[in-house]
Amino acid sequence: MKILLAYYSRTGFTKKVMDDVKDRLDERGHTVEVERLQVLRKTSCVGEIWKDLHHYPLIFLSSFKASWRERYLATYTQIEEDIAPLRYPDVSAFDRICIGGPKWAQVSYPVARYLRTVRGLAGKKIGSVATFGGPPLPVFELAMIEKAMTRMVNGIGASIIAHLGLSSAYHELGVMPLFRCTSRMVLHKPIEFFMIGSDYANHLTRQFCDEIAGKQEEDQCL
Ligand SMILES: Cc1cc2nc3c(=O)[nH]c(=O)nc-3n(C[C@H](O)[C@H](O)[C@H](O)COP(=O)(O)O)c2cc1C
Repeated sequence: MKILLAYYSRTGFTKKVMDDVKDRLDERGHTVEVERLQVLRKTSCVGEIWKDLHHYPLIFLSSFKASWRERYLATYTQIEEDIAPLRYPDVSAFDRICIGGPKWAQVSYPVARYLRTVRGLAGKKIGSVATFGGPPLPVFELAMIEKAMTRMVNGIGASIIAHLGLSSAYHELGVMPLFRCTSRMVLHKPIEFFMIGSDYANHLTRQFCDEIAGKQEEDQCL
């Protein structure tokens, strides 16, 4: 298969995961191309959060009740950010596209702009990759990014066939002590257990690549 890995990575963690995905897909004999998204203006972490700050109280509230969360995720306005011209502005020629980025409350702004800019995504099967600073909390981390990505991707007529969400155990704001504590209290494991490079992360990455590549075999059987 011809596979495109399109991603944004501000501090290098998502790049690390995408490099690993590329190596694994290369090993399986697929032709893998890479589109690393670049922003036109680099903003500080606080500056980026500021653009979306009005959503934070709603995000906090929505973590308490599934129906509030569904409503929030179905209606919030996604922030976007200008990105440099694309190497592959039309992805029609690819069989699969993996789209990755850091979780910035929901979808990172450069990835959101990419989804609205790139042509040829309709009808495609997509793999969605995200890294986040916290442990893989099912609601605050995984649901918030996966459902937000699903809404955006479905909105352009494509579908997500696999999600990969991994912890970088890094946050520019210096809130890691809070995330470390949460990992122990909620998931009963140190955050290192879930980090990029751990057995847990390697297992999920392998599974993600199986799902991306394996669907081809199913398609061929039909
Ligand atoms: C604007 C902004 C918002 C963020 N929001 C979250 C968040 O909601 N949850 C989280 O765990 N980490 C959050 N982070 C941390 C990043 O998701 C994390 O460091 C990620 O692994 C960075 O990936 P990168 O190195 O590919 O840019 C945020 C970081 C920034 C800059």
